[in-house]
Amino acid sequence: MSLFRSPRFPRLGSPRWEATAAALAVLAGAACAKQNDPPPGAASGARRLVVGFSQVGAESGWRTANTKSIKDEADKRGVTLKFSDAQGEQENQIRAIRSFIQQKVDFIAFSPKTEDGWQAVLEEAKKAGIRVVLTDRAVRVTDSTLYETFIGSDFIEEGRRAAECLAKRTGGKAMIAELQGTPGSAPALDRKKGFEAELAHYPGMTIVKSASGNFERAKGKEVFEAFLRSPEGARINALFAHNDDMALGAIQAIEAAGKRPGVDIVAVSIDGVHDAFQAMLDKKLSCSVECNPLLGPQLFDVIEKLSQGQHVPKRIVTQEGVFTADQVTADLIQSRRY
Ligand code: AHR
Repeated sequence: MSLFRSPRFPRLGSPRWEATAAALAVLAGAACAKQNDPPPGAASGARRLVVGFSQVGAESGWRTANTKSIKDEADKRGVTLKFSDAQGEQENQIRAIRSFIQQKVDFIAFSPKTEDGWQAVLEEAKKAGIRVVLTDRAVRVTDSTLYETFIGSDFIEEGRRAAECLAKRTGGKAMIAELQGTPGSAPALDRKKGFEAELAHYPGMTIVKSASGNFERAKGKEVFEAFLRSPEGARINALFAHNDDMALGAIQAIEAAGKRPGVDIVAVSIDGVHDAFQAMLDKKLSCSVECNPLLGPQLFDVIEKLSQGQHVPKRIVTQEGVFTADQVTADLIQSRRY
């Protein structure tokens, strides 16, 4: 029997029915209001900020840590976060941004898959009066007022640091296989640029193979297997991977081919995720250049400032270092947050 037909539920129109209906309406109102109520401790009259975030996907350990950082920080600050995972597809990101515009969110933030292809949708956001913050990766647009600021790493410097580390480990003599990130993405373009610029100082170091592994571990393994089978395969004695996950995949391929990672093939990569630290402890990876994924606090600092009418710099560079295998201890791994 349904609740409304139950003898214990007041008859329609009776005074008890009116009282029950009023109580239910208050409860429903409270449930709806909950989402946009100010967080506990906020100034009275404050409204929860609503932020739409379009994440590029879940291709790497770095990305998983980045997503967690953004979700945790929104939660902590009482921001209503509308999160969308584009599963590696730029069209999905554009669709998500359009949906955020329709929903009239207060801010849009996103980590763009590639540098190009954002002009039109960002113009739509601007026309709707919604401010946009770029996190992690840059875009190439003709009008820089289409976004407020870009928070993220200096990818050129990361590539340069990777080359410097590889030069130290190989004494400036290396036949390098390069695993590039997602084609057209800012980290793939800039890390390559920085790496090659530094390499110019070392005439004994040459890139003999280069292809994309899309920042994915399985793809990194597959592409490196093909490198090893190629005519240049026997000469490869160094690896530069644009991220840790691809390096870890390549290390599996190196071992499967009967070679010793860290000895026969010296590997360097970028990110500094937990598994890379383990590989450094095992002396299979020589160096991981840090790329910090914990961008949530910086992102919401910026959004809060903008919402209070404060100025923020157009570019906010994440401060990072370099980790080498000889520095890594089991204790250090324990202390890592990603
Ligand atoms: O844009 C940052 C890069 O994207 C990270 O280095 C990589 O792991 C990720 O997928």
